[in-house]
Amino acid sequence: MKAVSLVINGKQSEATIEPRLNLVDFLRDHCELTATHIGCEHGVCGACTVLIDGVPARSCITFTVAADRAAITTLEGFAGDPAMNTLREAFAEHHGLQCGFCTPGMLMTARDIVTRFPDADEKRIRMELAGNLCRCTGYVGIVKAIQDALVKLKAAPALPQAVRGIGPAGSHPPAVHKERGAAPALSGRAMAAASTENFDVVDWAAIEREGVELQQSFVVPFPRADVWRFFADLGHVTRCMPGARLTTPVQGGRAEGEVTVKLGPIVSAFQGVLDVARDDAAFRGTVRGAGRDSRSPSSARAIIRYSIDAPDVSSSQVGVTVKFLLSGPLAQFSRGGLVKDIADQLTRVFARNLEARLSGKPLQDHQAQTLDAGAVARSALWARIRSFFMRT
Ligand code: FES
Ligand code: FES
Repeated sequence: MKAVSLVINGKQSEATIEPRLNLVDFLRDHCELTATHIGCEHGVCGACTVLIDGVPARSCITFTVAADRAAITTLEGFAGDPAMNTLREAFAEHHGLQCGFCTPGMLMTARDIVTRFPDADEKRIRMELAGNLCRCTGYVGIVKAIQDALVKLKAAPALPQAVRGIGPAGSHPPAVHKERGAAPALSGRAMAAASTENFDVVDWAAIEREGVELQQSFVVPFPRADVWRFFADLGHVTRCMPGARLTTPVQGGRAEGEVTVKLGPIVSAFQGVLDVARDDAAFRGTVRGAGRDSRSPSSARAIIRYSIDAPDVSSSQVGVTVKFLLSGPLAQFSRGGLVKDIADQLTRVFARNLEARLSGKPLQDHQAQTLDAGAVARSALWARIRSFFMRT
């Protein structure tokens, strides 16, 4: 159990919760704030949108502990807000809702649009609404309602104050968070993890206990000794992974590295320290990594265990288990099947690259400087959107 302290709709809220409790369940079940809806639970539909430190975010894929010390605003928190009241009336007037399931998330995003884009045209409105899905497909009414609200708000004196640099949580440089007065998202320990000399103060037991676990395995047509030898060179291994690179050579089992990941509008560059341990007799190894994003106050810590087994003399089965914890704004991506889908795709890319390098061939998926997780996950995302629409 973990103690958290949040400001929800302007009121201080303290609770002791399971580390795995996501924010939408915390809001609905613990705080009885049921305006925030749960749709896909995978960060796709936008029904669960709330503001975290003034920025729209998916509460279904945000751990409550990751939002510790943040200010959360749900739809209930906009009573008396001129922009939200105008939008509510416009939605009713223009039939911007049918079953109403998507409406809380639509209103949160609509308010974000009228706040940031007072001159938004239909194209801009539709583009900004792209992250919110309406199963009743009532987009015409929703767009008209927002257009009408924009006209009325322009004429009204009390336009909501625009939040500078607004965008998906995690898309801002740290300075913007500072300007908005956001709570520091990194714990002292996570901050320390970013530097080599403080790597050892990371609470690895907490990552074992509370980390999100992913398991992958694949077979390559090479003898175990060859694959094991290849894994001994961390530089070789990272070259098989798009977006990853070592920035220093491995010395004393330790190196510094960087992983650049792009997910839609969010680009993160995690820089940190890797620590490698291998058991030659058992053909098993462990890589521990801790780093922080240079573009947002997010940190990542991971324990990666790999094993090379020999199903027969000429092939190897590579097993990888990853336990990871994300802190800060990017923690909203810790949860959900999307992370698993991205890991599945990455494993396929890694396995192909590993096979190519073991064969002495050029990489089939040549190493990109940035891992475009959005592109990697696109097919999986569409599958999830389809299944969302198919639900009865
Ligand atoms: S329920 Fe969170 S995005 Fe769909
Ligand atoms: S009004 Fe039914 S899902 Fe949008």
